[in-house]
Amino acid sequence: MATTARPATPQELTEAVVHRFDNCEDERLRELMQALVRHIHGFAIEVGLTESEWASAIGELTATGHITDDRRQEFILWSDSLGLSNLVDAIANPLPPGVTESTVIGPFYVANSPLRQYGESMVKEPAEQGTPAWVYGRILGDDGEPVPGAELDVWQNGFDELYAVQKPDGEEDHLRGRYITRADGSFAFTAVRPVPYPIPYDGPVGKMLAATGRHPWRPAHIHVIVRAPGYRTVVTHLFDEESKYLDSDAVFAVKPSLLRRFVPRGADDPERPPSIPRGDWVSLDSDIVLLRGNERLASVDRGRTA
Ligand code: BEZ
Ligand code: FE
Repeated sequence: MATTARPATPQELTEAVVHRFDNCEDERLRELMQALVRHIHGFAIEVGLTESEWASAIGELTATGHITDDRRQEFILWSDSLGLSNLVDAIANPLPPGVTESTVIGPFYVANSPLRQYGESMVKEPAEQGTPAWVYGRILGDDGEPVPGAELDVWQNGFDELYAVQKPDGEEDHLRGRYITRADGSFAFTAVRPVPYPIPYDGPVGKMLAATGRHPWRPAHIHVIVRAPGYRTVVTHLFDEESKYLDSDAVFAVKPSLLRRFVPRGADDPERPPSIPRGDWVSLDSDIVLLRGNERLASVDRGRTA
């Protein structure tokens, strides 16, 4: 369509705005801006966006900015709850079969967790309830080779549904730690069986969930980032295959290949590790397979967002 200096119809307006970016020297930026304009105009035309709906959207974006700081990232929560984070992840990380799939990092990752020994417990609050979990396996390369010296950066919520970073008065190293694989690629850590928890719903995203009849719950999972020289970093979850909400995760992060079985173990089980001194426990056996390559994921570098 020819551009007119004074657009008369909505379609002419869209084209006029698109062409205003024609001289952008950065080709990729031009592509992004022109597609953004086409899609956002197309959206407004498709739904017949009213002035009050437009004003209300601006109000929610403003509130999103106000609630966001270096501990809380409401914009990423929008992206997560609209499935965009998982879509970007899928576009960035196409993987051959057999390699452990990635999923969203979420807002509760805090870099520089303490380095812990093989098998060490990351349960650091004495009152932690729930079932102790022995999580073990091997880090393997895509040819099945063991990867020694790989780093597993692990974090999870406790029985109270909260991550340590959500509890200003809690023990900051509770339920988080970094573990290095042994010569045969093996790792083990002591955790608790995770429970489902709601994403933060006291802000604009929560308002959207409530207004649209959606719930804020996530199925139980443990977060892991695995880094190893010569392999692609993977940011992923180990989901409890028995958890509620696997079919309705608030952030669309469940992938069937990431479901894992927590095996119930009795107090007198001979395989009980020293880090679980008493009571019933569960074990989770999960290898993680890495793709050879050096690329790092941008999301891992985004730092603290809780
Ligand atoms: C999480 O798993 O920690 C999470 C992911 C996305 C949004 C909120 C929480
Ligand atoms: Fe989580």
